[in-house]
Amino acid sequence: MSGRNLLAPERVGVLGGGRMGAGIAHAFLLAGSQVVVVERDEPTAAAAGERIRESLRRSVERGSTDQTFDELEALLSTGADTALFADRDLVVEAVPEDRALKVDSLRRIEAAAPGAAVASNTSSISIDDLAASLDRPQRFLGLHFFNPVPASSLVEVVVGAATEQELVDDARGWVEALGKTAVVVADAPGFASSRLGVAIALEAIRMLEEGVATAADIDAAMELGYRHPTGPLRTTDIVGLDVRLGIAEELHAKLGDRFAPPQLLRDMVADGHLGRKTGRGFYEWSE
Ligand SMILES: NC(=O)c1ccc[n+]([C@@H]2O[C@H](COP(=O)([O-])OP(=O)(O)OC[C@H]3O[C@@H](n4cnc5c(N)ncnc54)[C@H](O)[C@@H]3O)[C@@H](O)[C@H]2O)c1
Repeated sequence: MSGRNLLAPERVGVLGGGRMGAGIAHAFLLAGSQVVVVERDEPTAAAAGERIRESLRRSVERGSTDQTFDELEALLSTGADTALFADRDLVVEAVPEDRALKVDSLRRIEAAAPGAAVASNTSSISIDDLAASLDRPQRFLGLHFFNPVPASSLVEVVVGAATEQELVDDARGWVEALGKTAVVVADAPGFASSRLGVAIALEAIRMLEEGVATAADIDAAMELGYRHPTGPLRTTDIVGLDVRLGIAEELHAKLGDRFAPPQLLRDMVADGHLGRKTGRGFYEWSE
């Protein structure tokens, strides 16, 4: 059984096999695409391959695919050379969030994969800014996956000024092939998800600062009143207060004072209370 979803691209490349790249590779493999993951060197590529195989094994054990492990594994290859992208239909860039590294990586992808659509998984860098360094900006867009990729049902399709409509339509189909929902957004700071998520979190922190309610009650108001699965303060603990402060600072610079980080957030980050990863944020977290 081939198992290929006809909407999925046949040959996919992923540059960077870390947390997100491995998840993106896993998602396309389950949809039946052939996937090559390229890392910065061979040992890192082999380690990424092992992590992806492990998650494929788990998907097979959980029954989330009809395919066997052997069938899925046969679709995966890894390496350390972007020349492996030569025959790809789509290449997704998932290297760390560093503008210069992304520009260099995207230019290398474009040169290595002349027939491919190219996507960046950036969570904060402007697609138009990245597109300015490319020769084929019309074949470039953002595919913003969420962490952890297998459990998340959303992908933001971020459309640059030069992105052609045909690519946007294809991207919607690819996301659908992964069993996820595409939200199409223009290239605006924070896209849709970070902008709204951070806006609610900053207001919740200001309410805590002003003594309006306790953290647990503020979260309960959103969980029970608006059916958010997790309240804004607990979510901030999970994401990391430092991560949210970074995004808020960027949105403040680009969108104005409504995103000014509250003093309480700055103080907690300065004191090392970063949320779940340090054991303390708006809540206490134990192992
Ligand atoms: N982690 C999240 O929650 C999340 C969510 C959405 C989007 N993102 C975005 O996804 C991207 C990747 O984030 P991540 O969390 O997976 O990071 P990560 O550090 O887990 O993975 C990055 C990978 O890129 C590899 N890499 C570095 N330089 C490389 C190069 N020159 N060539 C090939 N590979 C290289 C690293 O070895 C590493 O495996 C970032 O742009 C990030 O903003 C992250």
